[in-house]
Amino acid sequence: TEPEWQTFAERIHYVQTDAGAHDEWGALVDILAGNEDKVRVAYLATAPSLFGAFATGLRHNGLITKSSRIVLEKPVGHDYESAREINDAIGKCFAENQIYRIDHYLGKETVQNLLALRFANSLFEPLWRRGSVDHVQITVAEDLGVGNRVEFYDRIGTLRDMVQNHMLQLVCLVAMEAPASLHHDAVRDEKMKVLRALKPIGADEVRQNTVRAQYLGGAINGKSVPGYLEELGGDGSSTETFVALKLEIENWRWSGVPFYIRSGKRLPRKHSEIVVQFQDVPHSIFTEQEYNVTANRLSILLQPDEGVKLSVMAKEPGPGGFELRPVSLDLSFEETFGVRYPDAYERLLMEVLRGNPALFMRRDEIEAAWRWIDGIAAGWEEARQKVETYVSGSWGPSASSLLLDRDNRSWHPEE
Ligand code: BG6
Repeated sequence: TEPEWQTFAERIHYVQTDAGAHDEWGALVDILAGNEDKVRVAYLATAPSLFGAFATGLRHNGLITKSSRIVLEKPVGHDYESAREINDAIGKCFAENQIYRIDHYLGKETVQNLLALRFANSLFEPLWRRGSVDHVQITVAEDLGVGNRVEFYDRIGTLRDMVQNHMLQLVCLVAMEAPASLHHDAVRDEKMKVLRALKPIGADEVRQNTVRAQYLGGAINGKSVPGYLEELGGDGSSTETFVALKLEIENWRWSGVPFYIRSGKRLPRKHSEIVVQFQDVPHSIFTEQEYNVTANRLSILLQPDEGVKLSVMAKEPGPGGFELRPVSLDLSFEETFGVRYPDAYERLLMEVLRGNPALFMRRDEIEAAWRWIDGIAAGWEEARQKVETYVSGSWGPSASSLLLDRDNRSWHPEE
């Protein structure tokens, strides 16, 4: 309401500083003076090249207290080296548990629900491994294009924009071992082990295990949309707006179980989903039926419709023959809880104020993720991996379907 806003607005002060001119921060120093006991959050949504300068400026002006925190928006660098430089610079001013590196996917309710599903239920754990799971798929699809971020995006591409952070975090939460507690380091230690176990994909493997592609013009929801190159103008570009990967986690739990992940812009709709595909029954007794037994599938829907679906085989009702059909045990979070889901940022900023870094990325996680991604990016260069194209409004290039076809599998949702 207006009066509440007025009270709130009175507390807001606007001060301009130059990140590099540390001796000219007097106005900021004055405003903060006398409030040393309060929680101080420096939230940086700037170019990552300025992160270090800001942190140093805070230290130079004596503005870092025991209860200070610094929040870094992604991207933290554009490769392993640049991430390390940023982390070094920030680490000179702040202790690791004062540094909050945002990956907003970790603030999404459904992503946190993965922890609840896996570790607050005994049902899934014995099956959550090789021997029961055939493969895992993760899709993060967007219908939007790059829009007016095109110049920024052209230097980044989907591998760095989505896979290095959001997708790998999802892989970690699906694949990690049970942490001993919810303590931030306990959870992040387990995620680290997954990142360390990712099999490198280099120049010899990129052709077989990766797809990179860029959108052409097309139509989404009946509206025609331009291609990436038209939006960019200029001389062409090999930046990808779609990535699909087949990855392997080299440990006892997941050895031989492929994880297929894909993310792209200008796909038919916004849809993010994790699919855990279980194996076929070892022997089917239902050989005469119209429908064969299809293997169970657990779908964790992240957005826009948050929920969990378990597909199981059931007998069709009726006194006739014995016909089977896959049906879905459906849990819609919205229907069940009847509440509005808070935005990821509401949750994350609250965690910063509370001083809980569990939902943020630790230095070693970011760097391990970059190392793995750098290997793929270098592999693409070395092998001159082709940038495929796909029509806006489709589910990506045919090479993406082929990636699974070759293994006799297919994406969900299907093309
Ligand atoms: C951001 C990427 O991190 O995530 C964007 O930089 C992307 O390119 C966005 O559009 C997707 O977030 P969400 O929450 O809409 O899935």
